[in-house]
Amino acid sequence: MEKYVIFGGNRLCGTVRIGGGKNSVLTILPACLLSKGVCTIYDVPKLSDVNVMQEVLECLGAKVERSGSTMVVDVSNVSTVELPDRLTRMMRASNLVMGPILSRFHHVKLAYPGGCSIGSRPMDQHLRGLKLLGAQIVEKHGYIEAKADRLVGNEICLDFPSVGATENLMMAATLAEGVTTIRNTAREPEIVDLQNFLNSMGAKVRGAGTDVIKIEGVKELTSAEHTIIPDRIEAGTFMVIAAATGGDILIKNVIPEHVEAVISKLKEAGVEITEDSEGIRVRGKERTRGVDYKTMPFPGFPTDMQAQLMVLMAISEGTSIVTETIFENRFKHVDEFRRMGADIKVEGRVAIIKGVKNLSGAYVETSDLRAGAALVTAGLVAEGATVVDNIHLIDRGYDSFDQKLRNLGAQILRVNGIKERR
Ligand code: UD1
Repeated sequence: MEKYVIFGGNRLCGTVRIGGGKNSVLTILPACLLSKGVCTIYDVPKLSDVNVMQEVLECLGAKVERSGSTMVVDVSNVSTVELPDRLTRMMRASNLVMGPILSRFHHVKLAYPGGCSIGSRPMDQHLRGLKLLGAQIVEKHGYIEAKADRLVGNEICLDFPSVGATENLMMAATLAEGVTTIRNTAREPEIVDLQNFLNSMGAKVRGAGTDVIKIEGVKELTSAEHTIIPDRIEAGTFMVIAAATGGDILIKNVIPEHVEAVISKLKEAGVEITEDSEGIRVRGKERTRGVDYKTMPFPGFPTDMQAQLMVLMAISEGTSIVTETIFENRFKHVDEFRRMGADIKVEGRVAIIKGVKNLSGAYVETSDLRAGAALVTAGLVAEGATVVDNIHLIDRGYDSFDQKLRNLGAQILRVNGIKERR
């Protein structure tokens, strides 16, 4: 298994370019299944989750060509509506093909996405919405099978603004008969990106970015070209890295409104942040202040940044209280931070952090993608060497992470085969 070995203590300085958004591309690739033409997608990041989604499309019979960061998807030869179990289990986002396949091919079957290390992640909101559009759904032997000769527009109100359910239902409704109104929708920027892509294929979707989305069904969707929006979580991660290492990083290809919640917390902690036409410049300080934060659906503080900001809190002055409201089990990184000398206590969905002066390098293991980025950040700050294990999880969502960090002056190596000293 590959690991990162990090020698901490360097101030990271320089410029970094953020790639296309993981969560955006993971919904736009399934949306290509709705098209009768060929779709060209630009700024696709090199991530293992994108490779899995490419494999999902290919297993269904689609032709996918990739050259650099451009992907061309042709679904004219899709020959099956059943997803291989292996892929469904590898990545929860593979469930995003459900809405488009059902809408376009009237039938879809997939294994129930397995549990996840950050929480149970049910699919009830996706399925209830599809039923309201007229799908018959059978859940048996660990599989979900949905059929519908035709989908018909309806009123849907989500119990919770689920990102995936909003996306799946938007995609399903584009080819349904009549008008669908989805209320209490998620407002994440990736949903606006999906709306823009669907409309460029000829769909009639409006309201993304608000909590009511209206979709007027059309007969067919055609070819389109689309550039993926920048990854706001990758941008937020580099902002925290600049702050935590006392560095000075110019972050390019970022949309400031997408990272407003992170900017606001970093400023409250005393970090200097300026914006101009080139990007966002983040300058760290000798010692920041601890601040409280709570994860919320967009535009609130993103759950996908909870672990990374906690590293800064761990070395800030004073006490911070972090509340995780989106996932029930997203504090697994805390035990690993403690190995590095952090003073953190968890009570249910709340973590209480007492800032310490220094972290010290240790052997740590990541349990999920964002926790992994946070442990790398902790390693960059810590005295001595840190080994971060299970880094294939980081590859799911960060394109060339170690290379980008080295360009900023980090000492980080990707190695095979170091064992923990027992
Ligand atoms: C997406 C993101 C993920 C991010 C999350 C929350 C992608 C590929 N992934 O995940 O990075 O952390 O949004 O911002 O875009 N829920 C239900 N029933 C449902 C659906 C969701 O109870 O049918 C619950 C989940 O268990 C979770 C919460 O709603 O507690 C949020 O989930 P959701 O917004 O659906 O997240 P994902 O789309 O899975």
